[in-house]
Amino acid sequence: MASITVSAPAKLNLTLDVLGKREDGYHEMKMVMQSVSLCDELTLTIENGEGISLSADLGFLPLDGRNLAVAAALRLREETGKEWGKLAIDLKKRVPVCAGLAGGSSDAAAVLRGLNELCGLGLSMERLAEIGEKVGSDVPYCVLGGTALAQGWGEKITPLSPLPECFVVLAKPGFPISTPELFARLDAQRSRCRPDTEGVLKALREGDLSGVARRMFNVFEEILPPRKRSRVEELKGELLHCGAMGASMSGTGPTVFGLFLREEEAKAAEERLRGICREVFLTRTI
Ligand code: C5P
Repeated sequence: MASITVSAPAKLNLTLDVLGKREDGYHEMKMVMQSVSLCDELTLTIENGEGISLSADLGFLPLDGRNLAVAAALRLREETGKEWGKLAIDLKKRVPVCAGLAGGSSDAAAVLRGLNELCGLGLSMERLAEIGEKVGSDVPYCVLGGTALAQGWGEKITPLSPLPECFVVLAKPGFPISTPELFARLDAQRSRCRPDTEGVLKALREGDLSGVARRMFNVFEEILPPRKRSRVEELKGELLHCGAMGASMSGTGPTVFGLFLREEEAKAAEERLRGICREVFLTRTI
């Protein structure tokens, strides 16, 4: 029996731009991504036998191939043609689900990295990212992590100068968001504000945290249905009021986050937001 424990960090979108719709129905994206220390933990165990099983400490998660952690293991086995025995994945879920934080994609990426090491597959991170591409659009970024530019439909990853360290307060509003519905709303829209991605890339090169923070922007925010949008605006307003250098929504939402230089301010913001939102986390960039 052999076992390994791997962590699966949440991701934030410092920027999110949609450049257009492709013929295959997917969208051309341009996003600056950042990992944070809030993470799921996965223990992978290999024994004699065969099959893949998943257990999780959160009741409503699918435990079959619909779960990206299982999908990633299946895909890796298919791509490498290797039989590694009976795989048990135990998932400790800490990153909120359906939140715009790539929790499921990060679990998939952690399974790919973990199995590569546990089974001595010797695959490069680039190859793992390529395999991850077939599991989900955010998986290639999650394989590599850190601060990176994601383009194409999420498969072209360029590592960037790391965002200077800071504290992050996350708040997830209680309403659900449908990703395909948001893309459809975006397609129906004629013109829109766009993030200054080049400005963010320049600020990253210069190690200018506030330059990044004040340019954070997500095109999905403006097309949210009015009540959801005003809730997102309210939470962002609170974060800024508490001293955040910038605040934005991550991915297709609904999680909102703020960047803080000082821990005391971040703690005060966490406390204040807990009063108005059920799921609030204080974390750091990694
Ligand atoms: O790849 P993933 O399962 O994360 O994508 C979920 C949905 O988001 C897709 O079915 C598609 O509707 C939309 N999507 C898109 N363009 C992308 C990524 C996702 O249209 N680049």
